Amino acid sequence: MSAADEAALPAREDAPVIGVLVSGQGSNLEAIFAAIARGELRARVGLVISSRPDAPALERAIRRGVATRVIVPKAYATRAEAGVALVAALRAAGCELVVLAGYKPILDAGVVRAFQWRILNVHPSLLPAFAGGMAPRPQAEALAAGVKISGCTVHFVTEAVDAGPILAQAAVPVRDDDTVDALAKRILAQEHRLLPWAIARVLAGHVRVDGRRVVGVDVETSGEQPESTVASHSGQ
Ligand code: GRF
Repeated sequence: MSAADEAALPAREDAPVIGVLVSGQGSNLEAIFAAIARGELRARVGLVISSRPDAPALERAIRRGVATRVIVPKAYATRAEAGVALVAALRAAGCELVVLAGYKPILDAGVVRAFQWRILNVHPSLLPAFAGGMAPRPQAEALAAGVKISGCTVHFVTEAVDAGPILAQAAVPVRDDDTVDALAKRILAQEHRLLPWAIARVLAGHVRVDGRRVVGVDVETSGEQPESTVASHSGQ
């Protein structure tokens, strides 16, 4: 990360406001900040909400001067009540898009309904394979299953876990000598490219949900250079 990337984010008051939900390290959150700083993603992170008070991701947000909240679902009587708190916080911050970036709890249905087709999640497998569970479970399952290609997926969040319409995917080849850690690391590097790109496409209005499909996005999966595979857009 360059010094410029580390600096406080440029004030883009007119940019669309996004809310990012985290539970862990926040490397995907950092990738979002970096893409904004590089001018590749026209957005402003208005709020970062963590499901855990000790998530390192919170520190990353604070360093950037971004507002943070901790909303621990278990601290509420019901998941629905935690959902109401989430929606209130996101709305108060003016978020028009919500991004789950390593967010562990299953989102309450009320939140999904409040932000229909306005919530994205990144998952470390090529969905629908190896759905469910947080890193490193999907990566471990892919390795154990002997697949030769794994990767990551950015999808719209619906009430069914990891089953919403797929927006973008990046492929990562599994190596003969792979470990779960090594595979997870290479998949994570692709998540960092794919997620900001997908957010930008949605904010730009370049995608449309058509049944189970998201149209307006082309995904290239080159067999020759799978490590550099990125989703490409259709130039709209
Ligand atoms: C990522 O692999 C994400 O796909 C998964 O958890 C990991 C979170 O990483 N759900 P980070 O917190 O963004 O570093």
